[in-house]
Amino acid sequence: MFDARELRRVMGLFATGVTVITTRDGSGRLYGLTANAVTSLSLAPPLLLICVDKKAESHPHFLDSKCFIVNILSEHQEELSTRFAKSGGDKFTGVATVPGHHGAPLIAGALAHMECVITDTLEGGDHVIHVGRIEHCDVAEGDPLLFYQGRYRRLADA
Ligand SMILES: Cc1cc2nc3c(=O)[nH]c(=O)nc-3n(C[C@H](O)[C@H](O)[C@H](O)COP(=O)(O)O)c2cc1C
Repeated sequence: MFDARELRRVMGLFATGVTVITTRDGSGRLYGLTANAVTSLSLAPPLLLICVDKKAESHPHFLDSKCFIVNILSEHQEELSTRFAKSGGDKFTGVATVPGHHGAPLIAGALAHMECVITDTLEGGDHVIHVGRIEHCDVAEGDPLLFYQGRYRRLADA
């Protein structure tokens, strides 16, 4: 058998990129969290999925706004990842952003942005799974921030 710690260790062997997923509420307040449970789902139609902890402060705001942006972080954005991995508060002070088509913020300097509208939300244990239809995306030059065995890594480490 295995416990939660062992499962975390096993899943930590699956190397990923790092994203900050952002949204906004009806008053225009911005929310975001660091996430690596992000998966490409379908090309036609263009879909991806994200998994959000039900205990996250930003969780209800994804349900309300029905939209989000996946900001794929560059290797220079570890500090942003650390900031958005802490719960609550105003995480956006001093962060350069541009509003996307639905008002959620695009984070400047990210390697790519994917603006999504939520088409489905599924139960996933202590998380929910949001399926997002990708409506707009853009990419920049650079290398990604990586996460492996509980630590940030870079392609140059390999
Ligand atoms: C590398 C990394 C990946 C993470 N991936 C996820 C994820 O996919 N989904 C999730 O809900 N939380 C994930 N987290 C944890 C959230 O970032 C963290 O719980 C955050 O505090 C939530 O912010 P909020 O409570 O302000 O919404 C991850 C954290 C790190 C450091």
